[in-house]
Amino acid sequence: MKGVILAGGLGTRLYPLTWATNKHLLPIYDQPMVFYPIQTLVKAGITEIMVVIGGPHAGHFVSVLRNGKALGVRHLEFAFQDSIVINGQKTEGGIPHALALAEDFADKKPVTVILGDNTTDADISVDVKGFKSGARIFLKKVPDPERYGVPVFAKTDPQKITQFIEKPEHPLTKYAVTGLYIFDDKVFDIIRGLKPSERGEYEITDVCNAYLAKDKLSWSELKGYWSDAGTFRSLFMASKYWAEKNCP
Ligand code: DAU
Repeated sequence: MKGVILAGGLGTRLYPLTWATNKHLLPIYDQPMVFYPIQTLVKAGITEIMVVIGGPHAGHFVSVLRNGKALGVRHLEFAFQDSIVINGQKTEGGIPHALALAEDFADKKPVTVILGDNTTDADISVDVKGFKSGARIFLKKVPDPERYGVPVFAKTDPQKITQFIEKPEHPLTKYAVTGLYIFDDKVFDIIRGLKPSERGEYEITDVCNAYLAKDKLSWSELKGYWSDAGTFRSLFMASKYWAEKNCP
């Protein structure tokens, strides 16, 4: 299977850290942020990787990643996500807009997708190898689910997800949808059919809802540590985790 890392967007939540470079090149302890999703893919046996980049410092990725060989990547490609105008406003586009750039790279086959600011020590190789069709997502219990996409579970069956909501004010669960996904090739048709959300972006949560509506979505709980690193606090906490794990 091929892998796609979505490292577009502007990282505005981390200003002033992202004035002079890209968010995904900031350090999480002793490595640039983008190394972590690459290592997760390589650990799962995925060595053909596209990194979707964007923003004014996109060129910095090449200096840092080079050809990817030092990280065990056999084939590394980049795609540039440009900003788009939605409802008269210039926007980043959103996660599905970035993923759409990988359609030719995916070549009508399933892809494993990781958000560039996600860091985990989980091993998803069994999920990758066993994937047949539809979408597979990974949930993780977090103290602050309102920051994430969140599942709604059926009242009659605590394993059955009925809906996903992006950043609900009052989540009914502690589970967050992590930024790791396995999608079949239908994902690109789904993305073409999306409408922008109220905040003027295409939402990955709507992609998951589309798979759910077709009863084509499966999930498991991510085993191991997981965090995003897109806020000052989560960036700091992720650094702390990896520092303590690697240099106890
Ligand atoms: O980390 C998991 C969460 O990531 C999910 O639970 C949410 O459902 C999902 O929407 C996302 O939420 P965030 O608020 O954390 O998304 P953020 O805008 O911070 O973007 C996360 C990464 O996605 C970012 O580091 C790079 C990539 N991205 C994002 C945007 C908006 C792109 O490649 N292009 C984009 O236009």
